[in-house]
Amino acid sequence: MTTIASQPADASLTANAIFLTLSLHEGEAALQTFRDLCADLPGLVRAVGFRNAAAGLSCVIGIGAALWDRLDMGARPQGLHPFRELAGVHRAPATPGDILFHIRAERPDFCFELASQVMARLGPVATVEDETQGFKFFDNRDLLGFVDGTENPSGADRMAAVFIGAEDEVFAGGSYVIVQKYLHDLARWAAMTVEAQERVIGRRKLSDIEFPDAEKASFAHNVLTNISDAQGNPLQILRDNMPFGSPARGAFGTYFIGYAREPGRIETMLTNMFAGLPPGNYDRILDVSTAVTGGLFFVPSADLLDRIGSGEALAAPEQGITAFAGRAQGSLGIGSLKQGS
Ligand code: HEM
Repeated sequence: MTTIASQPADASLTANAIFLTLSLHEGEAALQTFRDLCADLPGLVRAVGFRNAAAGLSCVIGIGAALWDRLDMGARPQGLHPFRELAGVHRAPATPGDILFHIRAERPDFCFELASQVMARLGPVATVEDETQGFKFFDNRDLLGFVDGTENPSGADRMAAVFIGAEDEVFAGGSYVIVQKYLHDLARWAAMTVEAQERVIGRRKLSDIEFPDAEKASFAHNVLTNISDAQGNPLQILRDNMPFGSPARGAFGTYFIGYAREPGRIETMLTNMFAGLPPGNYDRILDVSTAVTGGLFFVPSADLLDRIGSGEALAAPEQGITAFAGRAQGSLGIGSLKQGS
C-alpha cells in the first residue's frame, strides 16, 4: 500500500499568515529556479519552523494554469483553469499570478522569515503581483466584526472537502485554491444597523449564533454560499480568511482563501454572491466589499511537488485510491491518502 502525502491545505486557522502571489518570468532558467524551489520547500519550512514547533509554521504552494502547462508534466489536473472573471451585480476581477504561497504560523516572525527565504530564491525570476500580511482579529472576527470560519468542515468532512480523491487519481491528495482580496467600505458598513448587518451575514454579530433557516434573508451570505449537489449532499469548502489593512491609509480588508477538491463549488458560490441566486439576489457583503484580485491555483500533493522539483513527468498510478489515512506529522504538516488495491 502506498501513502500519498498532501500539502497542509487543511491546516487549522492561525494567528498570522502571508499570502504571496508571483508571476514567473519567461524562459527555462526561471522554470528551473522554480523547480528547485519546489524540491527545497520542505527543507526551508523545516529550517525556519524547527526553531519553535509551537509556532506551527506551514506553507502551501499553488500553481496557476499557465505555469502548470509550462512545467510540461505530461498530464493536467481536471479542474485547473485560469480564474474566471465574474461581472454580475458586482464584479470579481481575474488578476495575474502563476504561484501562490499561503504561509501560516502563530507568530508573524515565522511567516516573515519563510517569505523572505522564498523571495531570496524566486525574487530574481519572478514579479510580485501581491503580498498580503493577514492577522487574527479578536475572536477570529473579520473587519466587518463577524466571527469568520465557524462553519468550516472538520474531521473526515474536512479531508473530503479539500483533497482530490479517486476522481482524478494522478492528482490524488492535491487540492484547488481560490483567492480574492477584498477592500471594505467600513464607513458604509458602520452606517447600517447591527440588525441589518446580521441579515446580510445570516448570523448574530456578538454571539455568532446562526439564524434559523426560516428567518434568514434570501440574500444572506450563508444562504448564497450554502450549496449542495443534485442528491442534496452539501458541497463544502475550507476557508481561512484573514483580515489585513493599514489604518493610516484607510485600507481595511478581508483576504478570502478557499480550498476544495474541485474548484466548481467555489465558483458556484461566487456566482451566487456576485450575480445572485436567482440573478439579482446578490450578496450584500459586496455593497461594502470590493474584490480587487482573483486567482485560481492547483495545489499539488507533497509527493507531486517533489516530482515537479525533479522534473519527472507523471505516470498513471498503479493502484486505486481507497481511503484517507488522516493527517500525518511531517515537515510540511502533511495530511495523507492511502493507495491500495
Ligand atoms: C469579503 C469577503 C467575505 C467575508 C467578510 C466573509 C465572511 C463570512 C462570515 C462572517 C461567515 C459566517 C461564519 C462562518 O461560517 O464562517 C461566512 C460564511 C461562509 N462563507 Fe464567507 N465571507 C467572504 C467571502 C466569501 C467567499 C468569496 C466565499 C466563497 C466563494 C465564501 C464562502 C463562505 C461559506 C461557504 C460560508 C459558510 C456558510 C454556511 O454554510 O453557513 N465567503 N463568511
